[in-house]
Amino acid sequence: MVLHWQKALDHHWGIDATLSGLDGEYDLNFKADSGHVLKVMRPGCDAAFIDMQTGAIDAARKADTTLPLPDVIPTKSGALFTEITDETGEIRLCWVLSLVAGRPWADFLPHTDTLIHGLGAQNAQLTLALSGFEHSELHRDFKWDLMKAAWVKNDLQVIENVSRRRLISEICSGFDAAFPVLQTLPKSAIHNDLNDYNILVSGNLTTSPHISGLIDFGDMCAGPRIVDLAITAAYVVLGDVDAEKALVSLIQGYHSVSPLTPQEIDLLWPLLKMRLAVSVVNSTLMAVENPDDPYVTISQAPAWAFLENHGVNEGLINARLRAACNLPVVDGADRVMTWLASERGNFASVMGDDLKDAPIGSLSVEACTTPQNPFDMPISEAAYVGREYEEDDGAGSYKTWLGNYNEPRLVYTDHAFRKGPFKASDRRTVHLAIDAFAPAGRKLLAPYDGEVFCAEYRAGHLDYGGVIILKHETPDGDNFYTLYGHLNPEFLDRLNIGDKVAKGDAFCELGDPTQNGGWAPHVHFQLALSTDGMGEDWPGVGDPDEMFLWERLCPNPAMLMNLDDDYARWEPTDKSQVQADREAYFGKNLKLSYSNPAMLVRGWKHHMFDEWGRPYLDAYNNVPHVGHAHPRIQAVAADQLKRMNSNTRYLHPAQVAFAEKIRSKLPDPLNVCFFVNSGTEANELALRLSRAASGAKGMVTPNHGYHGNTTGAIDISAYKFNAKGGVGQADWVELVDVADDYKGSYKRDDPQAAQKYANLIDDAIISLQEKGHGVAGFIAETFPSVGGQIIPPKGYLPAVYDKIRAAGGICIADEVQTGLGRLGDYYFAFEHQGAVPDIVVLGKPIGNGHPLGVVITTREIADKFAEGPEYFSTFGGSTLSCRMGKEVLDIVDDEGLQENAQARGGELMTGLESLMSKHEVIGDIRGMGLFIGVELVTDRDTKEPATDAASYVINRLREHRILTGREGPNDNILKIRPPLTIDAEDIDMLIGVMDKVLNEVTCLMR
Ligand SMILES: Cc1ncc(COP(=O)(O)O)c(C=O)c1O
Repeated sequence: MVLHWQKALDHHWGIDATLSGLDGEYDLNFKADSGHVLKVMRPGCDAAFIDMQTGAIDAARKADTTLPLPDVIPTKSGALFTEITDETGEIRLCWVLSLVAGRPWADFLPHTDTLIHGLGAQNAQLTLALSGFEHSELHRDFKWDLMKAAWVKNDLQVIENVSRRRLISEICSGFDAAFPVLQTLPKSAIHNDLNDYNILVSGNLTTSPHISGLIDFGDMCAGPRIVDLAITAAYVVLGDVDAEKALVSLIQGYHSVSPLTPQEIDLLWPLLKMRLAVSVVNSTLMAVENPDDPYVTISQAPAWAFLENHGVNEGLINARLRAACNLPVVDGADRVMTWLASERGNFASVMGDDLKDAPIGSLSVEACTTPQNPFDMPISEAAYVGREYEEDDGAGSYKTWLGNYNEPRLVYTDHAFRKGPFKASDRRTVHLAIDAFAPAGRKLLAPYDGEVFCAEYRAGHLDYGGVIILKHETPDGDNFYTLYGHLNPEFLDRLNIGDKVAKGDAFCELGDPTQNGGWAPHVHFQLALSTDGMGEDWPGVGDPDEMFLWERLCPNPAMLMNLDDDYARWEPTDKSQVQADREAYFGKNLKLSYSNPAMLVRGWKHHMFDEWGRPYLDAYNNVPHVGHAHPRIQAVAADQLKRMNSNTRYLHPAQVAFAEKIRSKLPDPLNVCFFVNSGTEANELALRLSRAASGAKGMVTPNHGYHGNTTGAIDISAYKFNAKGGVGQADWVELVDVADDYKGSYKRDDPQAAQKYANLIDDAIISLQEKGHGVAGFIAETFPSVGGQIIPPKGYLPAVYDKIRAAGGICIADEVQTGLGRLGDYYFAFEHQGAVPDIVVLGKPIGNGHPLGVVITTREIADKFAEGPEYFSTFGGSTLSCRMGKEVLDIVDDEGLQENAQARGGELMTGLESLMSKHEVIGDIRGMGLFIGVELVTDRDTKEPATDAASYVINRLREHRILTGREGPNDNILKIRPPLTIDAEDIDMLIGVMDKVLNEVTCLMR
């Protein structure tokens, strides 16, 4: 059969190509290796139907050459389609299209906001390009014309499940309600079926996904353009997406090309649901006709899943979509805002006093450190929040002070403020009101005439306590609403729903913390232009990524307080400005992580927060070893700085206390300490110690190691001296292969691997001796970290140390990354190896962010060094540093953090193993405790590094608010090393999100 059509293709179109079959419901479709598609229509197909499609594609193609449409390839005689007799003698209408690149939307991941926005834009472009096209077939009667979707009502009984039938019936009622408006809209040619198989997407790990094809014009008809968009929308919301976000991106994309009216936007949601209703009713009818075809039922599943549990606030959806297009959230919203602005200055003062000069107090993420724990604010903090802003009024009280609108705050710690199950899930942080803080009992006046819409007591911790909503009407008859939260509930005895409150009436008073949800006395004063979707339970704070909606629905109430709009309005620091300044002020090789850098202004344990209060799970930073902003660290720092901060020229018990604590963790004979300011300085000192003790200069070190950024430390850091533009290898340094038993010369299945890697030292020693440098020592990150989170085979270090010592050298263990309990099973990595070094270097985590490094060595080596000049480091061993370092070590013990590293590390490895069994791109997982590497490869056999995949993964994890990094000579090893406080739920989040992102990687690498 294929041969017959190959010949026909050549004969009629002059295309000499090999054909292969494509899927098609009724027709024959062939893919030609010349980059074409031959479409052979079913016998009896109406020529007008093909004429419509070829004509429409051709017209759209000409109208907008940027659209990703196929070309209709004319026959040799110039026709867009032709009749050809098939092998059975039947006449078939045939046409040829150019093949469009890409994969169907349904098979493509990820559906990013940018991709969805692009789809909306292309949808609009297509409708515009088709707008001049006319054809009689556009007006045919068929079941997929959404204007005629009422047929569904006659077939409802086919749905046996009663609740599903009721659901579809309700959707039909919604459609009926929308129909009169729909009917008034102008109609033009629309694609009418941009479903998830008719949209093609291209993209890979380095090229962002984009729409590369819009195909299949077989369901075209004449209809309102919003119908076309609603159909696209019906498929975009299916599957694992945030439907509200997806709809916002889609409509913004459409609106950016072809502005929609509010009236059209209000139709999107009922039409979207109706399209899905048509789809499920249709496929249920088909299932009745084809009871043995399970696919029919399976294909319905995503649509039912969406309709039954769509996670969309239906009351707010129109406001959300209108706001996304920068249009008034409700009809009349603009009029209300104009009237409020014109009345500014005439409203009664809510607080009873003039707020014109009221002080402002910021509770923002950036300006305020309350609450200490952004996941749990106790009553003791809430009752005093903002106390630092209370200004004496000279009469034994304080002046009313204001809290800002649009201010991201961390005070909203309850689970109700999270949008997902995890601490780093989206979180509502941005204040949608102005607060006025004044003593409890202060009477509040109604700014304008209104009636009571809600008067309640909400008893929950950090809820409103007493709350009143007033409904107002402008002289033009438009409504708006004002909310007063944190009140004394005494009004419950007086005020009833519907009661009138006149402008200037003292209608309620501020509650004290026992009455107002537990807060310092204040009123939360919020304006809303509609209560749809909110009722009486308004969100007082919004998600920072949804302020496009909240700024329009609950605008700044400054006007009602007779204040200028920017008087009590917060603007977080502009991240892009900070980045621009940074580029201007610093060197270019000061690198930022991530293609979309994060600006982080607060931390708590293993989470960090950006300027908008968005939480991030910190699975990367090992410096905050015992957690960000640890209260004991804060307390020690503050306490010591209150006293004094001096140096090691004077005696202080903190110096010896710190040294004693370190010595207690180390085996003999490691018992002499030197305190410095950084890992780098510690390694510099270790280098000097080894030279002093050995009398030699040469050093042996594994390849791709890192020990610091100074001249000497760089010389022993192949990661830097061999990097592009690096200083190159000094002749007193010898490199040996990293004992990498995954990719190196000797693998895990080789029982001799440890000894074989150690034997590589022999040549290095000989070389240094031949060059006359002798062997001062060997330095290694005990478990190479920048080299790729590598755990050398057991026994490697003892064998190396034996050889080095036999050559007169000193053995240095750089435990900056691995020490202090991170490994769970061991306090130091050298314990795993069964080796005792001569010098141990500690850095970063030991100060938990305070600059601190420590070198510990033997008395013998220290004495040799002491034969030289005095040793002094001004800040090394400062009183503050000693107290900080000791506190960190104590916290690790007191809070069982080594044990936590062991338990959480085990869970992480189990989770990663399950990911490895699903995702081919994971070549290896390795590590210990909370020191873990995940090596990504393009091929598990060749172990070819998947560098682009690793870059993609860390950037996508960052978008999902998880901080990780990547390392290794090819930057293909994901690095996971969180603060030791990480919890089991955070591990679940990390594994769950990695799974999603790796699914995307699989798709993008195909
Ligand atoms: C193993 C190792 N040693 C030394 C250093 C240098 O420490 P610092 O940056 O504190 O000077 C680092 C820093 O990343 C390190 O990872």
